[in-house]
Amino acid sequence: MLKKVTNTLTPEIYIELRRKVGFKQYSFEDVAMALEKTLFSVVIYDADKPVGIGRVLGDDRVVFFIKDVVVDPDYQNRSIGHDIMLSLMEYIEGKACKNAYVGLMSTPNKEGFYKKFGFIQRPNEEFGHGMVKFVNNENV
Ligand SMILES: CC(C)(COP(=O)(O)OP(=O)(O)OC[C@H]1O[C@@H](n2cnc3c(N)ncnc32)[C@H](O)[C@@H]1OP(=O)(O)O)[C@@H](O)C(=O)NCCC(=O)NCCS
Repeated sequence: MLKKVTNTLTPEIYIELRRKVGFKQYSFEDVAMALEKTLFSVVIYDADKPVGIGRVLGDDRVVFFIKDVVVDPDYQNRSIGHDIMLSLMEYIEGKACKNAYVGLMSTPNKEGFYKKFGFIQRPNEEFGHGMVKFVNNENV
């Protein structure tokens, strides 16, 4: 029986689920600092085992960013990711002003998963490419 819990995402759960899908790793301390600034998060549990996560970042009104939507590979294709996205979008829709911006960066070939929630793929005639930069700061 799966259970959804909001705003209880811990560094341990975040690090372990991201590790399972091969995402970049961050130190426990960095993740703890980052999670403190998260607007909203979801964890899906199978009994006491965390099997899916997602979180929302942003200014809580004009700009939102969906990040770290991850489902344990053993639990994928069972609508858990869809359920996580429904919760994140429900939170955003309760907070966003008119014309608020909701961004995300899809991993390769996952665009179709997000299109079901109304996200459009860039670039198109109106919008340029999404862009990203990874900072290698050793000094903080
Ligand atoms: C992307 C991810 C979260 C999807 O989670 P999931 O639980 O396997 O997906 P779901 O079972 O909820 O699928 C929901 C719907 O999206 C569709 N879908 C899933 N992956 C898809 C893909 N790559 N392309 C198109 N559609 C996709 C499913 O077919 C399903 O459609 P349906 O509702 O019509 O049946 C999961 O594959 C994952 O964690 N991947 C590794 C990490 C990752 O890349 N995360 C994305 C970060 S941007």
